[in-house]
Amino acid sequence: PPRPKDVGILAMEMYFPTRCISQEELEEFDGVAKGKYTIGLGQKFMATCDDREDINTFLLTVTHNLLEKYNIDPKSIGRIDVGTETAVDLSKASKTFLMDLFASHGNTDVEGVDSKNACYGSTAALFNAVNWVESSSWDGRNALVVCGDIAIYAEGSGRPSGGAGACAMLIGPNAPLVLEPIHGTHMVHAYDFYKPKLDSEYPEVDGPLSITSYTSAIDAAYSAFKKKHALKAKKSGSEAPPFSLDDVDYPVFHSPYGKMVQKAHGRLVYNDFLANPTHPKYASIQNTAALLAQDYKESLLDKTLEKTFINLAKSHFDSHVELGMKCSRRCGNMYTGSLYGGLASLVSSVEPSEFLGKRISMFAYGSGLASSFFTIKVKGDTSEIKNKLDLVKRLAAMKVVPCQEYVDALKLREESHLSKTWKPQGSVDNIWPGGYYVESVDGKYRRQYLRKP
Ligand code: HMG
Repeated sequence: PPRPKDVGILAMEMYFPTRCISQEELEEFDGVAKGKYTIGLGQKFMATCDDREDINTFLLTVTHNLLEKYNIDPKSIGRIDVGTETAVDLSKASKTFLMDLFASHGNTDVEGVDSKNACYGSTAALFNAVNWVESSSWDGRNALVVCGDIAIYAEGSGRPSGGAGACAMLIGPNAPLVLEPIHGTHMVHAYDFYKPKLDSEYPEVDGPLSITSYTSAIDAAYSAFKKKHALKAKKSGSEAPPFSLDDVDYPVFHSPYGKMVQKAHGRLVYNDFLANPTHPKYASIQNTAALLAQDYKESLLDKTLEKTFINLAKSHFDSHVELGMKCSRRCGNMYTGSLYGGLASLVSSVEPSEFLGKRISMFAYGSGLASSFFTIKVKGDTSEIKNKLDLVKRLAAMKVVPCQEYVDALKLREESHLSKTWKPQGSVDNIWPGGYYVESVDGKYRRQYLRKP
């Protein structure tokens, strides 16, 4: 095939469970101070599912729905990359479960397996798929990226920052959402959030470390991105000023909870300020000298600094960043699905004619840790994606259930986890039409899945 151009996202589909709970009600239910989850963490709702769903039902549903909605021939797919941290098997890739949708059409020539590192697996999967299309082993067919997770925490540990959801994306040439070539990446070893337990779905979390790890990852990945950008500009003889948020129309972030995105956005503005502190747009900032003299480690913990830049960035946050938060406001953290739920929210929020020519920045973060800052250029019409996602209506159609139902659902998940012969207890009524669910577990840990008509 001829060398592909403008490789990126051709189509998108989101999946989320039918049920969610209100964070305002959860504050009351948990007996914490009013405002702790809604104001302190910036949370609104959080999706939940019981033992009728696992990551394979999420990924099967979102993939099947993508194929159907866009009338994609399963034979036209040459690669599938999956990103998840909720896999039910340490060996067998979640991708292999999706193969039923392709093998039944005579297509088993499909490269790609799973990528794993907390919430970053989806971005690793996306880079793999795009790189395949751009490589010399590309066979002319499109690729799929499928990602998602069930984000749940043990009682007393991060529960209000949970959630659930999944995303599927069709990747190929001449896309309306084109991945630009520069990636700024930062990866180091950290024990901020990890899942060492085989007998439980719940992570071990060092909450404060996870926040400073996320923040320092933004600094380092953005800085790596800007360095490469400057190098490229120098090589091409460009006289343009160094890269800053002025070059971005819509920043999208991995969203573990609402407030973290505000912190992250403010931190990018702080980075721009450090690069050009005398720019008139920072004229309102007090104690500029003190902020500039800041020790790096102290800057990660300095609440005054954080508030200064959150406030400075607030109107831009409200008008531009919030557009990418529709999924996270309703579903909470989708781990690997979170950043791409953000992209889907943005596509759903901006009129396609206005979107054309705009640049989106993406910040991917997965604990442990892996992070990248990269950009997407809107080079085509996004109407079809916006219409087929139908996101606003679908999120509104989720049922807000009492918090006790959430706790009961988690209990069922705890009991079913690792059972060889589990008879699912949750009701199939809680599955959307066209959604997959766990039918049974057969005595050898083998799960049978069915699709609801
Ligand atoms: P916590 O102990 O529940 O909350 O932990 P806190 O006491 O630290 O308070 C949080 C904020 O609420 C503070 O504001 C308080 O002042 C405020 P901040 O200092 O952030 O500005 N607050 C209130 N505000 C108004 N009214 C009140 C009130 N009370 C307190 N009454 C934590 C919060 C996020 C650490 C916890 O929920 C947790 O551990 N969550 C899981 C980890 C996490 O989400 N980390 C985020 C970064 S890491 C990441 O993104 C990766 C991840 O997605 C995993 C992956 O990669 O797969 C998690």
